[in-house]
Amino acid sequence: MNPLKIGVLVSGGGTNLQALIDFSLSGDLKAQIAFVATDNPAAYALQRADRHKLPKIITPYSAIIKAWDNGIQLPPHDFNLEDVLGKTPLMSTADTERRERFFITRAICEADLLQQMAAYEYDLVVLAGFMRTLTPYFLDKVQSKDRFRVMNIHPALLPAFPGRNGYGDSFNFGCKVGGCTVHFVDYGADSGPIIAQKAFDIEPEDSLDSVKAKGLQLEWQTYKKALNLYAAGKIEVVASAPDNLGKTRYVTKISI
Ligand code: GRF
Repeated sequence: MNPLKIGVLVSGGGTNLQALIDFSLSGDLKAQIAFVATDNPAAYALQRADRHKLPKIITPYSAIIKAWDNGIQLPPHDFNLEDVLGKTPLMSTADTERRERFFITRAICEADLLQQMAAYEYDLVVLAGFMRTLTPYFLDKVQSKDRFRVMNIHPALLPAFPGRNGYGDSFNFGCKVGGCTVHFVDYGADSGPIIAQKAFDIEPEDSLDSVKAKGLQLEWQTYKKALNLYAAGKIEVVASAPDNLGKTRYVTKISI
């Protein structure tokens, strides 16, 4: 059987990327890294990719967004603002102008990213500290509800503390446990079907730094396990029974 091919998206230091590279090399991760992509040309993770001769993709989000603000960029020809706005709850409290700017500029960036990704074969997109929201424009081109193909790792026990600062939020709230969550990505903010979660104790003597360090160690292991389950075809996404508001959620069933 061909190994799972993953494209890893990063924005920063890339310790998760490094763990995936190391696990892949040691055979503990049943996957090969097809490319490493980033929104941030200065990401240290790119140096890690270089060291291991992995193909790199750079979509400079900040520069692209600036160019749009200066009237230089146009939305992709297949971008439909109404369609995207109708699908996602993101930015729903922002005023119309800000919300539209957000989704138009993200689509321009995502079109560039997708175009570069098309040069590689990949089965799954793995977000490893990718600090940009992927919108329905991107997600609909990569996956469907029948076949989720974008996975993320989040630094908290979802649905607690979505957003960018999971460890900081858990620590500042005075939680006695912190944790990480691997989930598929849907149109919401850190709201997709949960694949795996691991918790750790937050002790009175812990600092934010020590909480982050504990959390990251756990992330590397948890991501490996989740990816191996995916590679083995053991994750099924099913619709849950409607809740008391009549809303159906998608949840994962893991076979052992
Ligand atoms: C991790 O804590 C991850 O959960 C979050 O961003 C951080 C990335 O760390 N999404 P690194 O770049 O993998 O070291």
